[in-house]
Amino acid sequence: MEVIRLKGGKPLKGEVTVGGAKNAALPIFAATLLTDEPCVLENVPDLSDIRSMAEIIRYLGAEVEKTGAHSYRIHAKKIGTRAPYELVRKMRASICLLGPIVARMRKAEISYPGGCVIGPRPIDLHIKGLKKLNCDVREQGGYIHVDASRIQGDELFLGGRQGSTVTGTENILMAAVLTPGVTVIDSAACEPEVEDLCNMLVKMGAKIEGIGSHRLVIEGVKKLNGVTHSVIPDRIEAGTYLIAAIMTKGDITVHGARARDLTAFIDKLEEAGQPVQIEGENTLRIRATHSSLRPVDIITLPHPGFPTDLQAQMCALMAQTPGLSIITERVYPNRFMHVPELQRMGADIAIEGPSAIIKGDRRLSGAPVMASDLRASAALILAGLAADTGETWVQRIYHLDRGYETLDKKFQILGADIERLDASAMPKELQGEE
Ligand code: EPZ
Repeated sequence: MEVIRLKGGKPLKGEVTVGGAKNAALPIFAATLLTDEPCVLENVPDLSDIRSMAEIIRYLGAEVEKTGAHSYRIHAKKIGTRAPYELVRKMRASICLLGPIVARMRKAEISYPGGCVIGPRPIDLHIKGLKKLNCDVREQGGYIHVDASRIQGDELFLGGRQGSTVTGTENILMAAVLTPGVTVIDSAACEPEVEDLCNMLVKMGAKIEGIGSHRLVIEGVKKLNGVTHSVIPDRIEAGTYLIAAIMTKGDITVHGARARDLTAFIDKLEEAGQPVQIEGENTLRIRATHSSLRPVDIITLPHPGFPTDLQAQMCALMAQTPGLSIITERVYPNRFMHVPELQRMGADIAIEGPSAIIKGDRRLSGAPVMASDLRASAALILAGLAADTGETWVQRIYHLDRGYETLDKKFQILGADIERLDASAMPKELQGEE
């Protein structure tokens, strides 16, 4: 078991390059099952979630070869139709295998993914969409059984209580590309990661209109070809570094950060008084050596609204921004597992329903903390980097490794006093808190 030790208070300066987007790479892996021809994927981040997805696709019968640090060759000549609980429970995003298996095999048997700490992760909209495409869907024994022998394109509304669903849209999209007729997905998710999947499917021969909008029109085709596709950069990783620049009063240039993917985030930082310099199509820079921010109100929403995956990181930023900030979580109302840990570091945050009320005139201090989910881990590291007293020890960093590739090393390059250690290196008084 590993931990991260860090000592904050130093302005972070320099340049960093983000990796490929985890939430684009995962459905893109699933999409390789839609063809019996080889696919080459590039700019794939080296993350435990990606390795889990590769393991499930291999189990289903595809040849999966890691051809480089960030590239794979996947050839799904023949595939099975059952994704078992012991594999699916390891990574809930594997639910996005449902669409491709249904499209290719006209039947599927997939374990329910189960929830996680950020809240229940229902898939009622995924099932509603498949039923609208004339699939017979039965839920039995923790598995979803789909008979798609009479699958047929149709028009469907895929919005739920919290608006659009990312992997729900991806599942119905991937089911529809090989389905006879025309499928219209209304209230489709339009996150950049969904757009990247659409662009790859079009390169494979799919017919999709409305890419990047909330209304996708798909005309089914008989067969899709193999493809070479490079995954878009990870906008959430980019946002994390930009927040690190502000919290440490540093100056960080982020390569691979596409401003078009982060408009709500950039707009909010500028409202708080922190300009973001756009230095070319894929480079953003924040110079915060003399910044002093104003408090803000943030509401997380489906794209193009403020991304929920940057909510925890913004809580850390606002925890040291003088004034009263309110961050309301409209996508996962319980996604505040990072708050008690930030409070241990001196943050003054009260949770009122789906909102975090943050009194920001606090100086954060280092403390032993526990990561609880992927984005919470990043928020705790940001707080540790900003704290100008004490050391921060972050435990359960396997959460971090699901979605950030060598984040500690990238922060070291930017000048941070941060290192990854074996848990046995922790001070005796912290041992056993695991
Ligand atoms: C994707 O999850 C991302 N994961 C999440 O990133 C991200 O937080 C989320 O979208 C929102 O942007 C991947 O893409 C692999 P949703 P997903 O379906 O698709 C409700 C990270 O940290 N809903 O868009 O599972 C749901 O409960 C992860 O990288 C239903 O009610 O999210 C939630 O409140 C965390 N019924 C809201 O919709 C459904 O059938 C959005 O969920 C499906 C979803």
